[in-house]
Amino acid sequence: MGNRVIKIGLLGSGTVGKGVQDIIFGDGDGLARRLGYRLEIEKIYTRLPEGKHWYAKFPTKFTNTPEDVINHPEISIIAEVLGIERPEDTRQAASYIIKALEKGKSVVTANKAVLAGFGQEIHSTALKNNTQVRFEASVAGGIPIIRSLGEGLVSDDVTALYGILNGTCNYILSGIRNDGKTFKEALSQAQKLGYAETNPESDINGDDTRYKIMVLLQLLYGIFVKTEDVATEGIKSLEKIDFDYASKKLGTNIKLLGSIRRSGGEVTASVSPIMIKDDHVLSRVNGALNAILVESKYCETMCFVGKGAGAGPTANSVVSDIISIAGGAHFGTRPEPVKFNRYLDKDTLHRHYLRFVVKDRTGIVSDILTHLKKNRINVDEVLQLKHSTEEKGYFREKLGLACDPDEILPFIITLEPCKESAVKEAMEQIKGQDFMLMEPVVIKIVPDLPDVVGG
Ligand SMILES: NC(=O)c1ccc[n+]([C@@H]2O[C@H](COP(=O)([O-])OP(=O)(O)OC[C@H]3O[C@@H](n4cnc5c(N)ncnc54)[C@H](OP(=O)(O)O)[C@@H]3O)[C@@H](O)[C@H]2O)c1
Repeated sequence: MGNRVIKIGLLGSGTVGKGVQDIIFGDGDGLARRLGYRLEIEKIYTRLPEGKHWYAKFPTKFTNTPEDVINHPEISIIAEVLGIERPEDTRQAASYIIKALEKGKSVVTANKAVLAGFGQEIHSTALKNNTQVRFEASVAGGIPIIRSLGEGLVSDDVTALYGILNGTCNYILSGIRNDGKTFKEALSQAQKLGYAETNPESDINGDDTRYKIMVLLQLLYGIFVKTEDVATEGIKSLEKIDFDYASKKLGTNIKLLGSIRRSGGEVTASVSPIMIKDDHVLSRVNGALNAILVESKYCETMCFVGKGAGAGPTANSVVSDIISIAGGAHFGTRPEPVKFNRYLDKDTLHRHYLRFVVKDRTGIVSDILTHLKKNRINVDEVLQLKHSTEEKGYFREKLGLACDPDEILPFIITLEPCKESAVKEAMEQIKGQDFMLMEPVVIKIVPDLPDVVGG
């Protein structure tokens, strides 16, 4: 082993920051043997150093001044693992990253929200200063998807990507589907087990997945879009009965998918719950796991599955980025001659699932069918499972109704392939009808999603 030492600075000492310290302080000798040089954490910024796990052993390495890390002359690589995620706060984390890059340091970040908001500025500053930005931990935690796309598939051409990128959502959806929990029960179980934040809004409204899709667009095509460009729907409107209809009537499962699709010179991206075939590989990714299905010109279809969060997997991704930079490897965003088109899929025809909860009276189905017909939408089937009084009572309670539960009627209509825009238009007209007790739920049914062998 040589005498080479790479000095590292950490911004943040929470779940991921401590995980990084555990690996480098705890397994420094093993790492040095494997690498032929030593990684040394020189300074750690956190607002409240005292009480942090490694503070007792290395008090002088901790500081409550971020500049002590950013301006440190011997530090060459900084890992930004601050818990700054709210859009209104990310400018602060971005400014730390940009200052570090301007000082000639390379930066590793786990923060998808910062990259989604300030990616262009961050990547161009790195380029200008001949330094690097790495972000393996920002998408799918422990799965080496960034390295795989940025290095492994650099000579390939990625044409589509479908990802289960939010462990909280996947845990909730799996709990509803596999354990018969209600949304509320599944969410509270996720919170109890530490898979969901006390405020899970950014997970369940789809924002977290959207940020990750934005980071992947930057990496794959050098495209920097605004958050509003990625049409996003979360999982809040899904109910247990949607999973019953999906499995018992349609042979499908519902997953929150972040999707990127390239067609010729254009790329589009979106986030929404999608009905996929029950035996599709993504359908079988349960609990808090993440998965990414990639379709490319040469490698065709492949799937990556693993832990999307947690101290160990995420810290490993941060440390592997540090080691990759220290070893001299280099990759950045990949500017491609493609244009982002939010509306690329507007004319694509999809089957759709529509779920209605109505106040029972005669003629409702024919009213709805009239509106669908007016929008040139063909109905595939009208389906109704036998709903117990308890199930109807659930909606009565949720909607704060005083009526008899048996006056509440849930049912679904599936549509033959049609344009999303036509469905939206029809739903706008239908949702104002006096019999509607809640907004109809619309889910795309995509039975032909690419699959890996044996799926
Ligand atoms: N946890 C995961 O499994 C996971 C997975 C993938 C990606 N990530 C990403 O990794 C980053 C760090 O996550 P984490 O789970 O380690 O967060 P965390 O446990 O909340 O830790 C955040 C750290 O940042 C410090 N901090 C300094 N200034 C802050 C500020 N203004 N606001 C909030 N915290 C501040 C906090 O300590 P003081 O309070 O002492 O300052 C603490 O040391 C985030 O970007 C997150 O999205 C996390």
